[in-house]
Amino acid sequence: MDHVNTPARAARTLCLTLLLAAAPLPAAHPPAPRGVGGAVASAEDQATDAGLEVLRRGGNAVDAAVATALALAVVHPQAGNLGGGGFAVVRMDGAVSTLDFRETAPAGARKNMFLDRRGEPVDGSSLVGPLAAGVPGSPAGLHELHSRYGRLPWPTVVAPAIRLASRGFVVGERLASALEEHADLLSRFPETASVWLPGGSPAAAGTIMRLPGLATLLRRYAEHGPAAVTSGPAAAAIELVSRRYGGVLRATDLAAYTPVWREPVRFRAWGWEVASMDLPSSGGIILAETADLLRRTGWERAPRFGAVQAHLLAEAWRRAFADRFLLGGPGSTGVTAVRLLDPAWLRRRAAGIRRDRATPSDRVEPWPGRRRMESRETTHLSVADGKGNVVALTTTLNGSFGCGLLVPGLDLLLNNEMDDFTTAPGRPNQFGLVQGEANTVAPGRRMLSSMSPTVLWRDGEVVALGSPGGSRIPTATLQVMLNLVVFHDPLQAAVDRPRIHHQWRPDRIDAEPDALAPETLAALRSRGHTVLFVPSLGRVNAVRVLPDGHVEAAADPRGGGSAGVAAEGRSPR
Ligand code: DON
Repeated sequence: MDHVNTPARAARTLCLTLLLAAAPLPAAHPPAPRGVGGAVASAEDQATDAGLEVLRRGGNAVDAAVATALALAVVHPQAGNLGGGGFAVVRMDGAVSTLDFRETAPAGARKNMFLDRRGEPVDGSSLVGPLAAGVPGSPAGLHELHSRYGRLPWPTVVAPAIRLASRGFVVGERLASALEEHADLLSRFPETASVWLPGGSPAAAGTIMRLPGLATLLRRYAEHGPAAVTSGPAAAAIELVSRRYGGVLRATDLAAYTPVWREPVRFRAWGWEVASMDLPSSGGIILAETADLLRRTGWERAPRFGAVQAHLLAEAWRRAFADRFLLGGPGSTGVTAVRLLDPAWLRRRAAGIRRDRATPSDRVEPWPGRRRMESRETTHLSVADGKGNVVALTTTLNGSFGCGLLVPGLDLLLNNEMDDFTTAPGRPNQFGLVQGEANTVAPGRRMLSSMSPTVLWRDGEVVALGSPGGSRIPTATLQVMLNLVVFHDPLQAAVDRPRIHHQWRPDRIDAEPDALAPETLAALRSRGHTVLFVPSLGRVNAVRVLPDGHVEAAADPRGGGSAGVAAEGRSPR
């Protein structure tokens, strides 16, 4: 996977490029911006700037993370949101906590709500329109983060988003092409089309976009907190549009929503302490299980970027994703992290991995232990402040522009997170994930996620990272982590390196175009792996605090994200 280290490899990569004309020439790794006073990496320039502005005003990592997330709700409507949810891992003064502001199923949701009378899935109903929407968690979640840790006044943190929505922001290339690509979805609902397809066509790059409804909502949010969205006229408007198109989301659901502080999934990896998200995200559990299996199989001793490393990664993920089948949100009948990460089980899992042969996924069953039942678009931002505190925050509407329905007057897009439940047993969801009984729809339940905001630290160095990409989130996050903690890559190179992916079902390795040299590909195939080349896997945004007090930020070139530091200069430490 490396493309910078040896002339031989560079020559091989060049040959492959010339032969297949599919693999890009080796990219250089421009160093990540480095400076002092804090750093932000997010999906959009204007959102990164909002975070940096708040850092320069004396805000801490949480102030800046919330400001960035709210700015994304304006300038990155594919995923940034007030109508969706997410997770945050916060490390402040050395203590880690995680906030779950994942959406819940509305009280009126039912197990078979996406099936017809014959038990067949009703096409698209868990993805398009308000039936697909979970109860938004972002309004209360972002406010809760700030209430516990923020230093600046709440209105100061909301201010950049208000400014962007009221004065307008420049539509970038990426948003323009997303609007173009999803024009069909956006045209399904006149409420949405009137804002995002003005005059019938998507706003072009360079246009100044104003969102006056969202600006007003944000002003009220700055004044009254989450109640501005979850009660009164805003909640009534959300219920009205939900009813209009047959949804079950009600104002009472919005008022009842609460974010939850949870214990992180913690593990050690190659001398680093790692903290990531526990249920209702499967992300932290997948990271912990795969890191453990890699350690047990001596992964780091195999040649870097060679077939054995790729094979062992695929075998570890295959098993971790098989175990994911048993997971569901808290309160479901699913297995817990503690049980799944039991060393005795992981020892058995590792013992089943052969170095010379792929295990067909059909032969990898989920965790057999006693169950407790006794029974596409996300965005990740990472922020550091000048004191070494960090936040990793992943937030989503699920698909690009969520369920496609915009609440008139509020310019607020609703999510389609209900598709993350097991909506039809045995059927893969939009990420190809086959999920289990513990993740079926139930009123108030949180749908299982793969989001993996993660923080790791060792000897005065701290890293925060995460990614969008559905099931590709934990695998992309893990690979960047491995590049850092095993191979000590510079931050930007760790993010840039090509990636692979496996998720148990389908039984296949996905690989970015330049991830596997021809001989590696041949060796994987001879072990029994099927390999599919895909354009890209995940978009990791990361920040790092160095022991000398400097900070760095790296945005993923795959997503055109943006990274910056609060100030240039040398650390006084
Ligand atoms: O929670 C999850 O795992 C998904 N709803 C995330 C969706 C996603 O990452 C789409 N992104 N590109």
